[in-house]
Amino acid sequence: MWNRLFKRAPREVMDLPEFQELDRSRLPVHTAIIMDGNGRWAKGRELLRTAGHAAGADTVKKILKAAIALELPVLTIYMFSTENWKRPPAEVDFIMRLLFDRLMQEIDEMDEDNVKIRFLGRLDELFPALRELTQKAEDRMKGNTGVQFNVAVNYGGQDEILHAAKSIARRVQQGELSTEDIDGKIFDASLYTEGLPPVDLLIRTGGDMRVSNFLLWQSAYAELWFTDTTWPDFTPLLFVEALKDFGKRNRRFGGLDNK
Ligand code: FPP
Repeated sequence: MWNRLFKRAPREVMDLPEFQELDRSRLPVHTAIIMDGNGRWAKGRELLRTAGHAAGADTVKKILKAAIALELPVLTIYMFSTENWKRPPAEVDFIMRLLFDRLMQEIDEMDEDNVKIRFLGRLDELFPALRELTQKAEDRMKGNTGVQFNVAVNYGGQDEILHAAKSIARRVQQGELSTEDIDGKIFDASLYTEGLPPVDLLIRTGGDMRVSNFLLWQSAYAELWFTDTTWPDFTPLLFVEALKDFGKRNRRFGGLDNK
């Protein structure tokens, strides 16, 4: 099922009239997604919450394939937050194993697709085999030049900002930096997202309208796009709709209209 989905997805996207009509010159550089609603999707079908996460993983594959077909430069997904540890241990365990299993299954195909994967968050707290696999996947794909695909796992925006502040403070203490030298560039380079561009478009599925501690620094000027559709039901067509809507936004970055 998973394999069939992956192989079919690009045609599915490229054949859509909506895809053909997209203005390629107005696509976001960095698209980030809060994948919410897996539990509700499962509940609505009288399934276990974990079935919702498994279905959500299928959607990740479809959307990554769509991003490849659309040649989006950067896609970041919110897989597991620093707050998600509060969930029942069996659910946490399931999500972590799901990441491990799907990564094992997909590593070759992602590499063939020229995807460059990166993991963002407190990776040292993952179970050792998962930690090793994330490293292996990053190493394997580091020379790739296609979609930069970031998976935020054990990630929290506030935690990331604190982590950056501490590392900068240490550099000041050690005399490597002076307080006056601290600027946006240095801060950017101290975040887990070092080297990545700011978020242009932030998509959230599942009906809630909040940013839930995701990429707080990086989303300062992000355009927000929400849908009631739960993550397992999210489709390449809806993704294209979000991108189309983004293309119509008038971004001013605090300045005035250029028109
Ligand atoms: C939010 O739905 C989803 C999560 C916290 C887990 C995200 C994980 C996946 C989509 C699986 C991705 C898998 C891979 C391999 C990348 P929720 O549980 O908060 O849903 P609810 O709001 O309806 O309860």
